[in-house]
Amino acid sequence: GTFNNLLETYLNMSKNYWVIDTDAGVDDCQAMVLGISAMHRELIDIVGITAVAGNVGLPQALINIAQTLKSCGEENLPFYPGAVSPLVAPLKVAASIHGEDGLNNYWKLNGKSKEGLPSPQEKHAAQAIIDLANEYRGELSITTIGPLTNLALAVSLDPSLPSKLKRVLVMGGAVHALGNTSFVAEFNIKSDPEAAHIVFQKFPRIEVLPWETCIAAEHQFSYEFLEQYLSRASDKGVFIKEITKVEEGKSSVFFCDPLTLCVAVDETVAKRVEEREGHVELTGTLTRGMTVVNWGCSDEKEVNEGTGVRNLRIIEALDMQKVQELFLQSVI
Ligand code: RIB
Ligand code: CA
Repeated sequence: GTFNNLLETYLNMSKNYWVIDTDAGVDDCQAMVLGISAMHRELIDIVGITAVAGNVGLPQALINIAQTLKSCGEENLPFYPGAVSPLVAPLKVAASIHGEDGLNNYWKLNGKSKEGLPSPQEKHAAQAIIDLANEYRGELSITTIGPLTNLALAVSLDPSLPSKLKRVLVMGGAVHALGNTSFVAEFNIKSDPEAAHIVFQKFPRIEVLPWETCIAAEHQFSYEFLEQYLSRASDKGVFIKEITKVEEGKSSVFFCDPLTLCVAVDETVAKRVEEREGHVELTGTLTRGMTVVNWGCSDEKEVNEGTGVRNLRIIEALDMQKVQELFLQSVI
């Protein structure tokens, strides 16, 4: 009766429901393992994973997600096939950086069988985002760790989506113009600038973990730390070890997507946040896909031709103590 309804409402309120939207490269899989492990410790509740083409094509992304779920003993967690290409731009996968399979040739090198992997749902990722947002109205958050195509499609199909989602947490953007895919643009934004533009226009408040924060020296991981992270005998631990390439001669490494999941699991991981107005450049000859942020212009509306709305919460500093704990707990 009423008591049970109230109890259910209370329990739902205290939960931290998330969808992970991913292009399933190496650090995406690390991120999913980190999120699912946090779910096993009841810190977060992942209700769906949506796949998008980016680091790899969609079929490979689905295979990588399936293997990640299997490694985590989460074969029943629903995952959904999303966009097979960006809205306008041609798909340009990152094979030269993460291998053909996005996992540093995990499939080739380990001779792994793809049999017995869980199957994706039939529903399209964009529809799944809409349906889950309705089911967990006001309590569902989404983190995108790939191109923004699925979220752009979802908000185009359901313009009321922004009012139904609790948090939108985007890994992406080179907010200080230190690009990784062009001089000034970051991969997730540059891969599908039109989708990113739609998301930046339609969502009044987006949390952004930009490229520059991920690669900052103080957010990198030492080799001593990596030895711990990559030495666990659990299924998850072995999977993480097999996909993570450790390059000789470097004294530290950085990861992007699992840092984002740390912020999803625990908001206080974001130690310094700057609220700014930001947009995605679509037409620049040298700057298409750039995340253009107003850092200094005081009269945002008049001088900068902006809206005056600080739509971005840009995460500039992370609590690495908490990050490292979440990483290590994810492979136990
Ligand atoms: O630019 C960093 C992003 O692209 C991350 O999501 C990572 O997966 C990379 O390939
Ligand atoms: Ca990614």
